[in-house]
Amino acid sequence: MNLDLLTYAGNAANLSAIEGGGRHELVRGDICDAELVASLLRTRQPRAVVHFAAESHVDRSIVSPGEFIRTNVQGTFVLIEETRKYWSGLGDAERARFRFLHVSTDEVYGTLGPEDTAFCETTAYAPNSPYAASKASSDHLVRAYHHTFGLPVLTTNCSNNYGPFQFPEKLIPLMILNALEGKPLPVYGDGKNVRDWLFVEDHCAAIRTVLERGRVGETYNIGGNSERANLEVVTAICNLVDEVRPGTGVAPRRELIRFVEDRPGHDRRYAIDASKIMRELDWRPAEQFESGLRKTVRWYVDNVDWVNSVRTGAYRDWITRNYAERTAL
Ligand code: DAU
Repeated sequence: MNLDLLTYAGNAANLSAIEGGGRHELVRGDICDAELVASLLRTRQPRAVVHFAAESHVDRSIVSPGEFIRTNVQGTFVLIEETRKYWSGLGDAERARFRFLHVSTDEVYGTLGPEDTAFCETTAYAPNSPYAASKASSDHLVRAYHHTFGLPVLTTNCSNNYGPFQFPEKLIPLMILNALEGKPLPVYGDGKNVRDWLFVEDHCAAIRTVLERGRVGETYNIGGNSERANLEVVTAICNLVDEVRPGTGVAPRRELIRFVEDRPGHDRRYAIDASKIMRELDWRPAEQFESGLRKTVRWYVDNVDWVNSVRTGAYRDWITRNYAERTAL
């Protein structure tokens, strides 16, 4: 059962592949609604809660931080508190088997210099954006529920996801669509900020692995072993789009790249040391960045109807708000 408020980035159509089999249910609702969460737990009797629900776009957290505190902090509190009440009423065997898996981010660790060692599970928290601070706060709540109440929790901290179905406010889908449509490609600052890129299916496999075999109370970092500077990523997208859609006007697409005013407080580099999950749980990323990016470009080219359905008026308002007044560098 998915509980999802289906706000701007949510989309029931993303679940069409699992519709109709009778094994999946989508409930539209808010994790901040304690009565709803309690009644769903009581009636559906889950063996685990996997907490993916979050406001996740850093630029939006700079424009409207309040929504991030509500969903990411208050929402996590309601979900884990109602889960604790449900879990404490289970029989001994069910209580022991139950899991609350909290999906979080490497942004809680702050930023790295070019020579710094990658983030590991014991790196001190130093969140720099309202988004990162809200996720750090939720991580602390989850940790506390384990230490205080013994709730069997697991936490995962991942790097930048990419792949099919990603809402086109994030770097990779935004750049693919702009490149396909011959629009400018807005690279923040000098384009040398570095991210580690994790293919979405590798992330899903890692979450399943942690849910099945992770040690209760532990956190696991999940990375794609693919550090790239933003400019490298955008250039690679341009080359792929030139390849799959040649001769439609503006090629080479890299001429569309524009350096624009930076994101305030922009973290310079993220890098993940995923050796703990590799060593303890035998998970590793299966996708290379180049092949994953190629699949992703292909997916956006082949799914124009999906793209058109998510680019609503509210989406266009966001694009205007975030980009129209960014000065060119
Ligand atoms: O590291 C994990 C995090 O990765 C997740 O927790 C976040 O939910 C997710 O949004 C992502 O955060 P980033 O801020 O790194 O992702 P985003 O796609 O917004 O930006 C990636 C990089 O590209 C970042 O350095 C900012 C830059 N950028 C982004 C956009 C949207 C641009 O240069 N131009 C853009 O238009």
